[in-house]
Amino acid sequence: MWVDPVGSLTTWARHHGDLFALRLPAVGRIVVVGDPSAAHDVIRSDPASSATGSATGRVLPLLGPSCVLRQDGDAHGERRRMLNPLFHGDGLARRREAIAKVTRRELMKWPADGPMPLLPRLSDLSFAVISEVVLGLTDEDQVDRLHRLVRRATGPAALAGTWLWPLGSGQLRDRTLQRVRQHQQAVDRAIVELLAKRAHPGADRHDVADFLLDVAGHDSPTPDRELLEELRALLLVGHETTATALAWSIERLVREPAVLARLGESLAAGDQSYLEGVIREVLRWRPPVVDTVRELTAPIELAGHLLEAGTLVVVAPLLVHRHPELYSSPDAFVPERLIGGSVPNPATWIPFGGGTRRCLGAELALAEMEIVLSELLAAFTLEPTDARGERARLSGTVLVPARGATAVLSRRGAALG
Ligand code: HEM
Repeated sequence: MWVDPVGSLTTWARHHGDLFALRLPAVGRIVVVGDPSAAHDVIRSDPASSATGSATGRVLPLLGPSCVLRQDGDAHGERRRMLNPLFHGDGLARRREAIAKVTRRELMKWPADGPMPLLPRLSDLSFAVISEVVLGLTDEDQVDRLHRLVRRATGPAALAGTWLWPLGSGQLRDRTLQRVRQHQQAVDRAIVELLAKRAHPGADRHDVADFLLDVAGHDSPTPDRELLEELRALLLVGHETTATALAWSIERLVREPAVLARLGESLAAGDQSYLEGVIREVLRWRPPVVDTVRELTAPIELAGHLLEAGTLVVVAPLLVHRHPELYSSPDAFVPERLIGGSVPNPATWIPFGGGTRRCLGAELALAEMEIVLSELLAAFTLEPTDARGERARLSGTVLVPARGATAVLSRRGAALG
């Protein structure tokens, strides 16, 4: 699963059907759902019969218990209602120019000499967008430092420790947990320092940090544990996912010369609709998040199987998006199939999950992808390659290109000096 998630999931589905069980070391038994109609039922299930916050805690223990991702029931609904306006409508529209500005600044730093993996650079860019533009943590150097601390807290060593600690001896468990806590504390200290440095704290209620501090009635810029956990969670889930989707976009564009050429022509003509199709198809073809989880709080029948309360159910967007009844030739990359309409069908296109738990940052991520890809193609030419496509591997619960989306970029106009 770690080295070949696409191959493993599709092989298991072929052998065992669209609904099968796996036993994971630290998590226990999970039921994987690739059947489109069962997936729709699970994702949109009544919050009274399934819980997401507790399930997320079982697979992502790095997220603190007070953040929106770990809440269920009324507490979850309340937090969503509070955060929603910051990620939609005017709250998002207001940020588009700021996202473009940060993008142009970050793209200026990219070297353009020979093949290079773009995922780490896209990760820096997305981190700058979420921390500076969305959360309101604006000191560029300190944001870089914060990103290094977040990387250490979520790197392979930290993740392996977190997933495997229930298997270790008492001493090993204590040491692992202590290390996780140290990483979290270092990240939280850096966030507090950044909050203290913001220009005019309280002047702009549109960024998340100001908004949360305001709601909590803080006069001082020092947040309590609950606010820190929310900010930390939004930083963690709000950059690696988008960076990964952008990395897969590059991985495909350099191997699909006809798509790359048509995209260049349509952007030059001021038409964004083909870019929208490319982005939606990337999210269908390689949905970054491998699992959308729910923990059943009541028994349900799913695709002819009775599942007990307590079962951890994992919807795999990758399997739904490759279902032959929904998408013909699912391995082919065809942006045309998802052009038009305000959003693709929420029952058959589920990179952002759905129901009351649909990704809070979906519109932000789509806007960011549109802006970054437009700016990137305006600043650089991408060289097509006939090198084999990159395999996917798992980083945490995100499907990343195994060679980091390696591509050759040339800065436009560089030859003219
Ligand atoms: C391409 C990028 C992204 C993808 C593929 C993605 C995917 C997802 C998925 C699959 C879920 C679970 C939904 C469910 O359980 O039904 C989720 C939840 C969430 N995402 Fe994203 N995400 C992306 C970007 C972002 C960004 C930029 C943010 C900004 C902060 C964000 C914030 C969240 C939050 C807060 C939740 C929890 C929502 C809740 O529990 O109510 N995501 N995301």
